[in-house]
Amino acid sequence: MSALQISTDQWLAAAKYRRTVYGLKDTSHVSDARIEEIVKEVLSFTPSSNNTQPARISLVLGAKHKELWDLVIHAAGPVLKVAGPGVWESMEPRFQAFKNAYGSVVFWDRGETIKESQKAHKASAHMFEQWADHATGMAQILVWTALEIEGFGANLQHIGAIPPVEVALRKFLDVPDDYKLKANLNFGEKAQPHPEVPAKLPIKETLTVFS
Ligand SMILES: Cc1cc2nc3c(=O)[nH]c(=O)nc-3n(C[C@H](O)[C@H](O)[C@H](O)COP(=O)(O)O)c2cc1C
Repeated sequence: MSALQISTDQWLAAAKYRRTVYGLKDTSHVSDARIEEIVKEVLSFTPSSNNTQPARISLVLGAKHKELWDLVIHAAGPVLKVAGPGVWESMEPRFQAFKNAYGSVVFWDRGETIKESQKAHKASAHMFEQWADHATGMAQILVWTALEIEGFGANLQHIGAIPPVEVALRKFLDVPDDYKLKANLNFGEKAQPHPEVPAKLPIKETLTVFS
C-alpha cells in the first residue's frame, strides 16, 4: 500500500476515462488560471530520460487559440490543396472544428536539450531523440487525461506533419528554431456525449505473461 489516498483501481479508472473527443465548444467552465495550474502540475512531475526534461509546452487559450488555427489553415492550405483530390476538402472542415475549441496545449521538444543530453551521455546518445518522444508522450497523456477529468473534451492532432505549419507556429508562439513541434491537444467543453473506449485487440494478442 502506498501513502496515496487513491487506489490503483481509481487511478486506472481515471486514466481509462480519457477519450478522443472531436465535438468541442469554444467555452470553458473553469478559469484560465485553473487550466494553467493543471499543465504546470504535469510539468512538475512528468518523467524524462535521465531527467533531462526536453518537453516544452505553449498553452494557448480563447481568442489566441482561434488565431492559432487560422494560421494553421493559412499555412496548410497551399500544401494540402495540391496533396491529392479531396484532401483539402476533407481536412479544412476538420481544421475549422478544431478552431471551434477553447484552447490548445502545444507540445514541443527542445532540440538544444536533446543535443546537450547526447553530449553528456555519449554511450546512449543515439537514443535521446526517441526518449524525448517518449517523454512528451507521457506529458501529453497526463495533460489530456487531467483536462478530461476536469470536464473538458480533447483531441490530439499532429499538424507538424505539414512543415510550413510548424514554421508558422514557432513564430506565432515565439519559440526558438530548435523547438520541434510534437503535438497539439485541442480542448473545450464537450458538444457531444463522452465516447466509449473503442474496440481493442484480444488481450492474448497484446499481452504475454510469464510466471
Ligand atoms: C501517438 C498518437 C497520435 C495520434 N494522432 C492523432 C491525430 O493526428 N489526429 C487525431 O484525430 N487523433 C490522433 N490520435 C488519437 C487516436 O486516433 C485515438 O487515441 C485512438 O483512436 C483511440 O481512441 P481514444 O483516444 O478515444 O482512446 C493519436 C493518438 C496517439 C496515441
